[in-house]
Amino acid sequence: MSAEIAIANLRNRADMLETAANRIWHAWSKHRGLTLKQVVQKLQRIKASDDEFTLIAHTGDMFVGTISLIKSDLVERSNLTPWIAAVWVENDFRKHRVGSALVKAAERLAISNGRDVLYLCCAPELRPFYSGLGWTEIETNIGKSGSCIFKRQNLKVAVSTDSDLC
Ligand SMILES: CC(C)(COP(=O)(O)OP(=O)(O)OC[C@H]1O[C@@H](n2cnc3c(N)ncnc32)[C@H](O)[C@@H]1OP(=O)(O)O)[C@@H](O)C(=O)NCCC(=O)NCCS
Repeated sequence: MSAEIAIANLRNRADMLETAANRIWHAWSKHRGLTLKQVVQKLQRIKASDDEFTLIAHTGDMFVGTISLIKSDLVERSNLTPWIAAVWVENDFRKHRVGSALVKAAERLAISNGRDVLYLCCAPELRPFYSGLGWTEIETNIGKSGSCIFKRQNLKVAVSTDSDLC
């Protein structure tokens, strides 16, 4: 891939909020009965929050992908926090390490926000993606869809902090 991909905090690319919300809505929220407007409002709340964030991958003014860090992503495990969620890469950009770059950028920003542990919930077929990024599966077969929970701990040790992203 020749396009140069940058990763920015949604606060600095608010023009891409509606596109990110649209992808999240189609992938995860629509079938749960949420409206696109509710997802837009959720991203607006995250953008204004000190504890949560959304990152945007882009090439110039073209939206490429997104990831969020949120306090809670699974009602069954509300004791665990925070969570990486809504990891999305546009079809034409997949398998070019953009998803990996988004996860690593979120880890680095989480560290700079004082976090040392992260969780995420994913479909079983995504195990290779997250285990390849150094995450450890801690639970499996959650809920009807058989989702897995992954954990990333000792973040400060595990992740290089030499980036000035976001
Ligand atoms: C999952 C997703 C974010 C991956 O993004 P990507 O940019 O294609 O991923 P990368 O190129 O960084 O992949 C890194 C590695 O994971 C593997 N991988 C990527 N997607 C995978 C998938 N769906 N299943 C299994 N392995 C996958 C890649 O083959 C690559 O392996 P390698 O190190 O052996 O070469 C992207 O496919 C996507 O947006 N999917 C739809 C939304 C989704 O399911 N998000 C996850 C929510 S938990």
